Amino acid sequence: MPDDFERMWSDLAPVGRSAASGGYFRQPFATAERELAAWFEEQCRARDLRVERDDFGNVVGWWDLPVVEEVAQQPSRNPGPAAVLTGSHLDSVLDGGAYDGPLGVVSALAAVDLMRSRGVTPGRPVGVSVFVEEEGSRFGLACLGSRLATGAVSWETARALRDRDGVALGDVVAGGSSSLLADVGTFVELHVEQGRDLVDRGAAVGVASEIWPHGRYRFDFTGAANHAGTTRMEDRQDPMLTYAMTALAANKQARLAGQRATFGRVAVEPNGTNAVPSRVTAWLDARCSSDDALATLVEAITQQASDRAGRDGTALAVTAESVSSSVVFSPDLAAAVAADHEGGDWPIIPTQAGHDAGILSAAGIPTAMLFVRNPTGVSHSPEEHASIADCLVGVSALADTLERLTR
Ligand code: GLV
Ligand code: MN
Ligand code: MN
Ligand code: MN
Repeated sequence: MPDDFERMWSDLAPVGRSAASGGYFRQPFATAERELAAWFEEQCRARDLRVERDDFGNVVGWWDLPVVEEVAQQPSRNPGPAAVLTGSHLDSVLDGGAYDGPLGVVSALAAVDLMRSRGVTPGRPVGVSVFVEEEGSRFGLACLGSRLATGAVSWETARALRDRDGVALGDVVAGGSSSLLADVGTFVELHVEQGRDLVDRGAAVGVASEIWPHGRYRFDFTGAANHAGTTRMEDRQDPMLTYAMTALAANKQARLAGQRATFGRVAVEPNGTNAVPSRVTAWLDARCSSDDALATLVEAITQQASDRAGRDGTALAVTAESVSSSVVFSPDLAAAVAADHEGGDWPIIPTQAGHDAGILSAAGIPTAMLFVRNPTGVSHSPEEHASIADCLVGVSALADTLERLTR
């Protein structure tokens, strides 16, 4: 099994990797991500997992229960006990790390191999899943695949989303239905840790207690384009200035409140060196320890941006593009997963990163997450890392969990 994990990992390593930065560009429905999707289905077929795909390209490889004659004659689609699903995503942020997503997929396949090598016969179907566009790096809405699969977002809304080149999702994806989760009773997602908690605690693996509420907000600052040389400083309506002061205010407000606020994406029009811009669009990513704290933080940042716009003679419009409420995972399930190993309990820790697991949990599916230690503590960057030894501890913890949940 360890060989299999490392072989799978080396299959994936070159796909979508930038020679310049060492980071990954695996945007949904583009070449690298589609190559990984095909690779995943090939891995499922090699393991005799029945491949089921929905209209968005979310995929599950099913390890079905053996067919019993009377059951096979019933008309229902997948009769029998509720399935246990495990998996993650294969898309990445722009210039992302190797582990965010693929680690959960490769570990799920390796856990199936490990269970089989242990001679386990599950009493429930086991599915290995890949959800598309978890990062929202192409169409802007994070966890889009799992939101469509759970019905949290309508196909109509999704089809209207556009990428940075103006391509509508509806032109990339045909159809509009998903029944992948119809028979799922429990979901477990293994993920690389995206902070330093496990490093600080000296633990190879941890279990998630909750996901902080978070949201993405588009700030449109509008001013007036003008000449960079001939326009006196006091005559300008410069939206870049309003944006810059807003970014500083966001940082200060989040620090004071012990929360997180980031402007990581900015578009400037017309984006010329020698012109005062006419418009700046910037996206705020805010994450807080409670829904109320998130609302308060975003309100405070918006108020400061608006005050500043008044002084700069610019206009401001703020649009909440997506807001995800706090997710608290089932404490009983988390405790059971954490206790599931020799030598003590894994730590149970909160996370500030969004995951498909949060969407499935919010849809009422009992869900757990396992994290694997990341020695750099860095994520959404080429610096993200996990040692092979820790990854194998993760695979074994996942196999233990699946074994118990499918008994
Ligand atoms: C996704 O990984 C996110 O938390 O933004
Ligand atoms: Mn991510
Ligand atoms: Mn992820
Ligand atoms: Mn994520």
